[in-house]
Amino acid sequence: MFPLVVHHACGSSLYDPEGTEYLDFSANWAVAALGYSPTRVHDRATKVLRSTTFSSLCTFMSPQASALAAKLCAITPGSFDKKVWFGLSGSDANDSMAKLVRMATGRRKIISFIGGYHGQTGASAAISGHSAQARTSTGSDNILIPYPNEFRPLFNGADEGQAVLSYLENLVFASICPPDEVAAIVIEPIQSDGGDIVPPPGFLSGLADLCRRHGIYLVSDEVKVGMGRTGSWFGVDAESVVPDAVVLGKSLGGGLPLSAIVGRKEILDAGVAVSMHTMGGHPVCCTAALAQIEIIEEQRLCERAGVLGEQMKSRLEEMAVRHEVIGDVRGRGLIIGVELVTDRETREPAAEFAAKVVFRCAQRGLIVPYVGLFSNILEFTPPLTLSDEDMERGMLILDAAIEDVHGGAVSDGDIAAFAGW
Ligand SMILES: Cc1ncc(COP(=O)(O)O)c(C=O)c1O
Repeated sequence: MFPLVVHHACGSSLYDPEGTEYLDFSANWAVAALGYSPTRVHDRATKVLRSTTFSSLCTFMSPQASALAAKLCAITPGSFDKKVWFGLSGSDANDSMAKLVRMATGRRKIISFIGGYHGQTGASAAISGHSAQARTSTGSDNILIPYPNEFRPLFNGADEGQAVLSYLENLVFASICPPDEVAAIVIEPIQSDGGDIVPPPGFLSGLADLCRRHGIYLVSDEVKVGMGRTGSWFGVDAESVVPDAVVLGKSLGGGLPLSAIVGRKEILDAGVAVSMHTMGGHPVCCTAALAQIEIIEEQRLCERAGVLGEQMKSRLEEMAVRHEVIGDVRGRGLIIGVELVTDRETREPAAEFAAKVVFRCAQRGLIVPYVGLFSNILEFTPPLTLSDEDMERGMLILDAAIEDVHGGAVSDGDIAAFAGW
């Protein structure tokens, strides 16, 4: 948690009650894809709010939800018959998805990944594998396997991705979990809260192939990286993978609470009244989502995310030459992780240093959170509309903050009150 009360926000920045600016390189956990002043989104949402304060999808269809569903079916991968479910958060969408894939297949098990974060509700927490949930997640029908991490490989050999696929096929399937028991494999195409880990090339397509061979649904949790952030609409596009269902949330609603499952008709039709949320698919939120998609298309923001992400990564790599504490820079488009280590040889996570850099950045006016199973990865998910000038301004603050922490500017006591995860 940051020592900051947000009073208002504008462009890519947050402001405290005294009017101090904080450039937000987190976009509030990747929600504010268009920054904080997308006028068209606000105007359209306000207009609908004035005409229809509310209408529940549990009982009525709304033109806004129907138009958004059609648009999401069009932009998600796959030319098969699709349907859409709407909720309010990434957690409820993953929860509903976990129910639906089980009902659609009659199979109980779901495979997901250590380090994955899919939410806080019963089923979404159960398929998560984040250390922050180690004492709360439950569910014996969930199998967690390693996510291929080239910076911290678990298997000896050249290709960590192929090693994980072989572990799944030759050990997990062959012993504790026959594939015909598995309803779905759920993956984040870039494992975000687990450390912004980009899987090695060929892993996602290999996983899709494995799912197809065993009749297992592949579900891509795009709650954090979807809707343009990776340089294309969805994270799976990097390998032209076509999942059976895509889960969306966070930035989907243009800053308002909205989530969705977009998937094969047979999955979404697996049960009636299986996952009802009175407020899910609120017409105001659907309107905001449609306006946001229109802007992303018009302003070619997917492409912009790709270009700006590359520039940002090369600035960070430049910094890594000067700062030994930077062990790895990785990412795709505008989701970038900078892994801090106490020693480049041993790669010991530098969690305390990361917390101090986050604190010092905030003192200097830049919001950068940390993520990862060992809390040592600085995460950059700025608005897709971030200007070149603001990008450079943020980089200079980060550089100075790392220097400051090296110089002892932040004490253990300074960060003690701000528990992270
Ligand atoms: C990949 C992913 N899925 C699901 C969630 C849960 O979303 P929410 O916090 O909106 O419930 C998150 C939140 O960080 C996420 O990153």
